[in-house]
Amino acid sequence: MHYPWWYVPFLTSPMLIAAISVLHVLVSHYAVGGGFFLAVETRYAYRTKNTDYLSYLKQHAWFFILITVVYGAITGVGVWWTIGLASPLATETLIHNFVFGWAIEYVAFILEIVAAFIFFYYWGRLKEKTHVTIGWIYAWAAWFSLFVITAITAFMLNTGAWHVNRGFWTGFFNPQLIPQVLARTGGAFLLASLYVYLHASFKAKDRALRDLIESRSARPALWGALMIVVGGVWWYLALPESSRAALAAASVLNVLMVFIFALTVAVFVMLYLGPYRNPGWFTPGFTILIFLSGVAAVTTGEYIREAVRKPYIIYNAVLGNQILPEEIPALRKSGYLEGGVWTRALVSKDYPKAVSGTGVDEALLLTLPDTEQRKLGAVLFQYHCNDCHAIEAGYSPIAHLTRGWTFEMIRVVVEHPEKSHFFMPPWAGTREEAILLTKYLVNIAPAHPAGMYYGNGEGRTP
Ligand code: HEC
Repeated sequence: MHYPWWYVPFLTSPMLIAAISVLHVLVSHYAVGGGFFLAVETRYAYRTKNTDYLSYLKQHAWFFILITVVYGAITGVGVWWTIGLASPLATETLIHNFVFGWAIEYVAFILEIVAAFIFFYYWGRLKEKTHVTIGWIYAWAAWFSLFVITAITAFMLNTGAWHVNRGFWTGFFNPQLIPQVLARTGGAFLLASLYVYLHASFKAKDRALRDLIESRSARPALWGALMIVVGGVWWYLALPESSRAALAAASVLNVLMVFIFALTVAVFVMLYLGPYRNPGWFTPGFTILIFLSGVAAVTTGEYIREAVRKPYIIYNAVLGNQILPEEIPALRKSGYLEGGVWTRALVSKDYPKAVSGTGVDEALLLTLPDTEQRKLGAVLFQYHCNDCHAIEAGYSPIAHLTRGWTFEMIRVVVEHPEKSHFFMPPWAGTREEAILLTKYLVNIAPAHPAGMYYGNGEGRTP
């Protein structure tokens, strides 16, 4: 409403953020866990004077930098780029509150990059102790950026006391901070071991070396899995009531919860039986399988975490369709089209007949020809509903959700979305605008599926 609309066909713009974020998260956790792996293991290799292991670690460091710095940085910038376009009001709110947090994060990020490059390019040219120290500086700087960024993403799910006292620290130390940092730190350890396994199963040719790598990385992976479980349970307990209810109400989330539980158990069992008890199992096939299972578990977890953030995109602050809750009463009076900078400009330019001296005139809207009313309905749909619903095909497509519905049924949901499903934001327009949107929706909804017998006189007769 306050910004131009970014229409992403089929997917909807928030789902595009989700896709890019998942691609980023799979690497950013490795960027943290891999740092600890390199610091701990180079120290161990120096101490045991294991030159084979050292040269493997150097190879791994190259792979690590390539993946985390190049790919990680590109997808990271991709996330910022997309959220700014897809969720401008939420991004604005985050920037206003957390600009200091980002400043800290950038310092940590620069420290990380410099340390990573020194660690790799000065390999063999530094004293052993200094080399390991640089490794530790990298690892802690990376963990620190995880901590800061997690505080901001955790804030979106549960802002805690922030709506009463809007300070930086109130937002930072929100109820979701510790559980999410715990789960993400665990995820970092687990994913790092899975990346190490994958890389080593192709690159470490010597059997004894492979066995060593495998058993050294098994313990952090198992601890990581445990931290994910503890963090996950705590995450659930620290959810706002609406999110817990969303988790219970959506069938897809019920299934995904079972799926993530099964995947976590499977990864745990594979780690225990494979690397921990029988290091000989280490083949590319096995490491690919366990890696993909880990990736599937992390992706599912991120999806669930995002999906329960409804109806707010920032809890108690910004609604999922880029409106502030406190704006709703005025918009219900003066109209959504009139309230938005871009919608108002559009109506005055393309539908001057609906504009009177005071702006968009609600009564005049309904005197426009039907095709124009439906076009304005489409505009309302985009701004008000398209964050969560595709149109005719794609993610949660509205045409299929309302298939076979009558005009009255659709109008009731349009005027009271939050009563139909508590995870939808309330209607933020006038009754006239609700009619425009309903006319548009009725027009795109397909008829009831044919060939069915309802037994009430409708549809096919037996
Ligand atoms: C914050 C996200 C969000 C927004 C914004 C949103 N919805 Fe929904 N809506 C949902 C979810 C989630 C469902 C459940 C269906 C699903 O899971 O696909 C749903 C379901 C529906 C249904 C099916 C209702 C039923 O009883 O089965 C209709 C109709 C609907 N939405 C209309 C709208 C309209 C019209 C708007 C805009 C005025 C809107 N929604 C805005 C999230 C949203």
